[in-house]
Amino acid sequence: MNILVVGSGAREHTLVWKLAQSPRADKIYCAPGNGGIASIAECVDIAAGDVEKLVEFAKARDIGLTVVGPEAPLCAGIVDEFEAHGLRAFGPRKAAAALEGDKAFSKDIMTRHSIPTAAHRVFHDPDAALAYVEEAVDYPMVVKASGLAAGKGVIICESSEDAVAAIRKLMLDKAFGAAGRTLVIEDFLEGEEASIIALTDGETLYVMESSQDHKRAFDGDKGPNTGGMGAYSPAPVVTADIQHRIEREVLVPVIHAMKREGRPFRGVLYAGLMLTKKGPKVLEFNVRFGDPECQVLLPRLKADLVDLFLACLDGTLADASVDWDPRPALGVVLAQEGYPGAVPVGRPLRGLDGITPEEALVFHGGTRRDGEQIVATGGRVLTITALGDTLREAREKAYDAIGRIDPEGFFYRRDIGARAL
Ligand code: AMP
Ligand code: GLY
Repeated sequence: MNILVVGSGAREHTLVWKLAQSPRADKIYCAPGNGGIASIAECVDIAAGDVEKLVEFAKARDIGLTVVGPEAPLCAGIVDEFEAHGLRAFGPRKAAAALEGDKAFSKDIMTRHSIPTAAHRVFHDPDAALAYVEEAVDYPMVVKASGLAAGKGVIICESSEDAVAAIRKLMLDKAFGAAGRTLVIEDFLEGEEASIIALTDGETLYVMESSQDHKRAFDGDKGPNTGGMGAYSPAPVVTADIQHRIEREVLVPVIHAMKREGRPFRGVLYAGLMLTKKGPKVLEFNVRFGDPECQVLLPRLKADLVDLFLACLDGTLADASVDWDPRPALGVVLAQEGYPGAVPVGRPLRGLDGITPEEALVFHGGTRRDGEQIVATGGRVLTITALGDTLREAREKAYDAIGRIDPEGFFYRRDIGARAL
């Protein structure tokens, strides 16, 4: 079967790498892909958001399965469009992807179905939002753009001045465009963060091994929020007991709620949670793999990923068998200096050749091949993942490997996994 992966990050490199191990995979394409993906699949110069061209391509190349990595095309309805042309695409349809793309909807469905989450209000009008934060709330509190803002639309406010500034930034200055037209304002939750990623065919839910990312740019959880600077799996904070609770109190009810409301969810469901004193509460849902969580999960997955994705499409996930490599995995993200702000394009990456697959897996994010060399094109450039008999060993191997890359112009966190150790 020919397969098309949509996206261009290290998550998509990991997906392509894993799908390529399946005996069912014939030719694999990736649109648009990157400098690392190009060495194991054919990259196609079509943007992840250009649905019309992707459909055309999938028809012309007899693509039997399309796998969509990022949230933006899912929320824009890429899966509906593929299905309308008789093509099979793995991921939620537009109405179900609203769990991530429309936080106001997501909070609303959680509230109506008693799924634990922070108390919240939704605002469409800036004056009403401003009036609310000036009197009615305790601080800290959280202001969120309802739409997609690449993980940057969440502002924790310590005072009403902060909250006023946040509302101005999102609603009036339109820092994230239409994403800030509606705001969710919610209570601040205290606790340890955890995430759980599950596969579902809309009926059956398969909860994957736990993982934990590191959202802040710098060591000690300092600096601005990013897409994620590193991850490890399993995450000891997610005990078997907590995992069962999350499945029972959050995942099963939300899948059921979506089905009842005529938005059956099929694909990857990612719950970001706060483990509070009163139990796990949902911070957000994502409708795709996390990046970099994917880079530490799939190297531990022993099942055939093509089989699993097709089982989700066929509604036969209940029959699938899934095994995991018991060894922990840890991934460190190499980013360009300046990330999560603007970064240059074209800086060469030196030292990659010294890393063998036995030592560590190198998943490319913002890179492209330029003649003989690989150059950086984006903020997050690589995820280097290692497996080890212990988390400590995985960590040593990942840092050994990343240490061989010429650091000029790049940075990475030195404390990935430190808290779990
Ligand atoms: P989100 O994109 O909604 O997961 O928010 C990004 C980050 O903001 C989360 O990973 C949390 O660290 C933080 N956050 C979001 N909502 C809350 C909340 N209600 N209370 C405390 N922290 C939050
Ligand atoms: N690493 C968090 C995310 O992908 O949203």
